[in-house]
Amino acid sequence: METIIFSQKVAEDLGSYIKQLGYSRLGIITDSNTKVHCYPKLGQSLPEHVHFSFEAGESNKNLTTCTSIWQWMTDEGFDRKALIINLGGGVTGDMGGFCAATYKRGIRFINVPTTLLSQVDASVGGKLGIDFNGFKNHIGVFTQPEAVFISDLFLETLSEVELRSGYAEVIKHGLIKSKSYFDCLRTEGWQNQDWRGITERSVQIKKEVVEKDPKESGLRKILNFGHTIGHAFESYYLNTEKHLLHGEAIAVGMLCEAYLSNQKSGLPAQELAIIVEKILGIFGKFEFPEDHISGICDLCSQDKKNEGDKINFSLLRELGNCDFNIPVNKEEIQQAIIYYKSL
Ligand SMILES: NC(=O)c1ccc[n+]([C@@H]2O[C@H](COP(=O)([O-])OP(=O)(O)OC[C@H]3O[C@@H](n4cnc5c(N)ncnc54)[C@H](O)[C@@H]3O)[C@@H](O)[C@H]2O)c1
Ligand SMILES: [Zn+2]
Repeated sequence: METIIFSQKVAEDLGSYIKQLGYSRLGIITDSNTKVHCYPKLGQSLPEHVHFSFEAGESNKNLTTCTSIWQWMTDEGFDRKALIINLGGGVTGDMGGFCAATYKRGIRFINVPTTLLSQVDASVGGKLGIDFNGFKNHIGVFTQPEAVFISDLFLETLSEVELRSGYAEVIKHGLIKSKSYFDCLRTEGWQNQDWRGITERSVQIKKEVVEKDPKESGLRKILNFGHTIGHAFESYYLNTEKHLLHGEAIAVGMLCEAYLSNQKSGLPAQELAIIVEKILGIFGKFEFPEDHISGICDLCSQDKKNEGDKINFSLLRELGNCDFNIPVNKEEIQQAIIYYKSL
């Protein structure tokens, strides 16, 4: 498992950590936004290093950018003892980590996630990769970073929509694993919270689940709650003017799947109502025409292991408890989306 360090003085702590690690050359990878907002926060504390920055955005998490990164490592003469720091959101961590894990059969890297989403989700679990020919995270490896440094200092410059997108995963952690955590997450004034406490608790939950099932043969599937229908919304509106951030799509998906949980896995109606109130209170309602529903439904069955015409879902038994491998048919999925639309 990766070493996760929660730090209030990240520049100093990172500086002394890498010193004791030892390396031949040090390289930092940022995207064009974290270059401006996060790189200066590490200030002069880092020893001599070289810096590579790529244009921000999921559309650059591809082989072309990897080629530039590998070329930079080669031009800088990085050997097997070189060390990489990935400073940025999930795109930087996934791609910088992938490049490091494959350069000369793997050099060491440290992740410094700077979005809430990457702090609570992408930072744990060792999944690295890039998108390929329109398929998300299609090429990749499982490799652990040397360490992950998490600091709420970076969240100060994150836009509210990006912060909210990460907050969807935080809510998911409460829903699948801890009612008391879910209960203490704010609806009103959610922007001002103890983010340090939140990242610690969320990372703890994700870690516990991943440690028990690193390769997703069973339990880890509960982390997919909200994601089967959520991904379908994300893909359906990709490259349209209604496009959704990952967490915004997962918020819609969690409401649809909470409805399915009530229908199929025992989630009490009263708890469904509490979930609806919280998620709508934070994310509002995503509006879409009725004739999109069947297209969204079709996307749910893509890339999934089906059982006949059924898809396996992770669904809540109650607040804080999630089951997995529950088969759901297409009609039921359609009903769930209609339910969301009726809210
Ligand atoms: N490996 C995993 O387990 C895992 C888990 C979840 C998501 N992911 C991946 O993570 C990616 C999404 O992560 P993300 O939402 O962090 O995306 P991202 O890295 O694109 O960051 C979102 C935006 O915020 C900007 N940004 C980042 N930090 C900032 C800061 N501190 N201040 C101001 N702006 C900042 C970025 O430049 C970008 O424009 C996806 O590619 C997804 O596939 C991976
Ligand atoms: Zn997610």
